[in-house]
Amino acid sequence: MAKSTARFVCQNCGAVAPRWQGRCDTCGEWNTIVEEQPEAPRAPGPAGKSAGGRRLEFVALKGRAAPPPRTVSGMAELDRVLGGGFVPGSVILVGGDPGIGKSTILLQAAARIANAGRRVLYISGEEAIDQVRLRALRLGLQDSPLGLAATTSLRDIAASLEEEKEATLVIIDSIQTVWLDSLDSAPGTVSQVRACAAELTRLAKTRNFAVVLVGHVTKEGTLAGPRVLEHMVDATLYFEGDRGHQFRILRAVKNRFGATDEIGVFEMTDRGLVEVANPSALFLAERRGNISGSAVFAGMEGTRPVLVEIQVLLSPSASGGSPRRQVVGWDSGRLAMLMAVLESRCRVSLGQNDVYLNIAGGLRVSEPAADLAVGGGLVSAATDRPTDPDMVFFGEIGLSGEVRQVSQTDTRLREAAKLGFAAAMLPRRVARGGRAATAHDGLRLSEIGHLADLVAPLAASAAKGAEKSPKKE
Ligand code: TYD
Ligand code: MG
Repeated sequence: MAKSTARFVCQNCGAVAPRWQGRCDTCGEWNTIVEEQPEAPRAPGPAGKSAGGRRLEFVALKGRAAPPPRTVSGMAELDRVLGGGFVPGSVILVGGDPGIGKSTILLQAAARIANAGRRVLYISGEEAIDQVRLRALRLGLQDSPLGLAATTSLRDIAASLEEEKEATLVIIDSIQTVWLDSLDSAPGTVSQVRACAAELTRLAKTRNFAVVLVGHVTKEGTLAGPRVLEHMVDATLYFEGDRGHQFRILRAVKNRFGATDEIGVFEMTDRGLVEVANPSALFLAERRGNISGSAVFAGMEGTRPVLVEIQVLLSPSASGGSPRRQVVGWDSGRLAMLMAVLESRCRVSLGQNDVYLNIAGGLRVSEPAADLAVGGGLVSAATDRPTDPDMVFFGEIGLSGEVRQVSQTDTRLREAAKLGFAAAMLPRRVARGGRAATAHDGLRLSEIGHLADLVAPLAASAAKGAEKSPKKE
């Protein structure tokens, strides 16, 4: 007889360890291993060749395939991230830090769809009915005809949904709180989360309603527990943002029915989440011109251009040890690379300074196209000369200091022109045969081929400035 059938499962990555240990060997997280009872043994697979199996009918790739119908919420930012609305029968995972606004946005979307005459069910495992009602009152949605229930029992949820004929959308807030009593593991463990999601997925497909699973995220930005769900669901959306900021960004990281990397921007107000139709204006709202270390990046988030300010601060290292590199909203490895390129290819000395880099407004930028703007910020901080406040920057930088092409040049330039910028610094476009300055939508363009072309003007103006006026104390 086997001694024990218990398994030790990492709640972060789902890896199974043979015994309890403090740190997961697979993902390196501490204190994530939990003992779980094994899931019920599966029915034995077909013994032999084809016992009980049905012969498949293979069809041609070409055929009629209608685009899926969609239920739009009327919140344009949400609908766009979803790829045009909720698809019936699909399962959507919405992840985010606790308190970021997941319940709020879903209640708002649910109420709007219910107001449009669809049947929407909101099942809360985290909050009591009264708490949800209070939130609805605060949001002014108390008259919405959506169905509300508070439970954590998946058995009850399944029994109710099995009977559902009309539901269009079902929201489970959150997947970590619901549990199946046939499993011994605690709610929120990998096996519970997986089993509950599998059951809800089955219901969504058979009853043809969309299911939204809410999942909490650990501080490292991965869905704890629910991370194992990412491959099961049709779409994964992250709701991100800094609780110190008003902005919230809904980002699609997986979407079987739409584009990924699409974002929706919202602002948290005292009456819930409000859509932000023009994020660039919002991200640049508090920008002050003529400060060294600042450069505006003309970025792309999915299909949409977003202008953000990149801020760099250099300060002499106090400790005398190795200088600090503190990065918010960008990749610190990329910053180290860029600094090395500046030092060895452009002879910009960043020396023993601590370097702080911040993407203003709480956005996370992952595009390599931000290199040139970060370079602009670094050089500007190092020379203590502001970059042209009416100029935007974009372009990827290679290890030899070359400025490389990026996609969607026209969209970026159009957005910059729309927001009243007068100039742009961008990679030299090959087709133009290296002509340095052309115009686009009234923008002055400085097309450059090497990072040194960005450094030279700032360094020159710094030298001139130093001659004229001795540096202020
Ligand atoms: P919530 O949706 O409960 O977060 P989550 O479900 O992701 O845990 O959001 C809670 C936060 O939002 C809370 O700190 C209060 C704030 N909030 C507002 O600022 N305005 C509002 O109208 C509402 C409903 C919440
Ligand atoms: Mg919540």
